[in-house]
Amino acid sequence: MKIAVIPGDGIGPDIIKQAYKVLNRVSEVFGMEFTFEEMLMGGRAIDEIGVPLPEETLKVCLESDAVLLGAVGGEKWDTLPGHLRPEAGLLGIRKGLGVFANLRPAILFPQLKSASTLKEEVLGDGLDIMVVRELTGGIYFGQRGRSEGSGGQEAWDTEVYSVPEIERVTRTAFEIARKRKGRLTSIDKANILESSRLWRETVVRVAEEYPDIELNHMYVDNAAMQLVRNPRQFDVIVTTNMFGDILSDEASMLTGSLGMLPSASLGEGSLGLYEPVHGSAPDIAGQDKANPIATIMSVAMMLRYSFDREDAALAVERAVEKALDKGYRTGDIMQPGMKLVGTEEMGDRIAAEIAAG
Ligand code: IPM
Ligand code: MG
Repeated sequence: MKIAVIPGDGIGPDIIKQAYKVLNRVSEVFGMEFTFEEMLMGGRAIDEIGVPLPEETLKVCLESDAVLLGAVGGEKWDTLPGHLRPEAGLLGIRKGLGVFANLRPAILFPQLKSASTLKEEVLGDGLDIMVVRELTGGIYFGQRGRSEGSGGQEAWDTEVYSVPEIERVTRTAFEIARKRKGRLTSIDKANILESSRLWRETVVRVAEEYPDIELNHMYVDNAAMQLVRNPRQFDVIVTTNMFGDILSDEASMLTGSLGMLPSASLGEGSLGLYEPVHGSAPDIAGQDKANPIATIMSVAMMLRYSFDREDAALAVERAVEKALDKGYRTGDIMQPGMKLVGTEEMGDRIAAEIAAG
């Protein structure tokens, strides 16, 4: 298995180092072979090459079996024009790899229940939502521009979705729902937006292929409210690029542990892009403070979705739980009575817990 690794900026290199430890341990325990090739993207690529996504990076990623990304961005590059910012690299690699379905699980670890901002009775015995966000279309990629209007400058962005774009991400979401509790909520703004009306019609048509899945539709404003009112009504959510950006942040905060949440971005084939949901946190870079768990959980998703190794994926997820059960905590999830550890020790502890069966 060839993995393209993009450590990126800020804490990216700190957490990626822990992912290596985990993958090396998985290799020992499960007899899988991994080769790694480190590539530049984001701020470091801007500094060293002058562009956020060098052609060579995209080429090597396309030739790999999976891409593991730390985090990109930082204040240093925030004043550059839009097409030269680290974020442009992120959008470019998503589009370039064709990874149209972004899976963002919001899982509440029972060990961290008190970190959630929601009351215990709302959380019940846990929370496990999978947000499937469309990632390579919509307003993120539509035409935008500025013009002179009667009242001075005007600016515009456009939301465009084609039927095939909606169909493919919807199918991914239905397939995932099938492996979970069998419930799918499609979120749109079909009372206003034409693109949302096409979205809804298309989802309804695709649903005919999945009679075993319970489908419902929600307007995005109601969904934002329902997520905090009663998050346990959701199993799998499918939505557009921008609504998914917003709702996945909301869903992740329900778990109180942004530093714990992974993501996977998938396309038609098995090549996937795996990255933690959190950002590059430049303020704590290189200080052995970052929580590596989101990246390690992203490695588990890589094992599951790109390498089809549910056994190894579960072993990594169980190793994380065991380290938490033993009381190890990085600063962001520290609670009284627990053992405070740094990035390196957390990586070592988790890697050591990885076992077969
Ligand atoms: C995310 C981020 C990105 C997005 C930004 C950094 C471009 O917020 O991955 O959710 O909006 O997609
Ligand atoms: Mg976001």
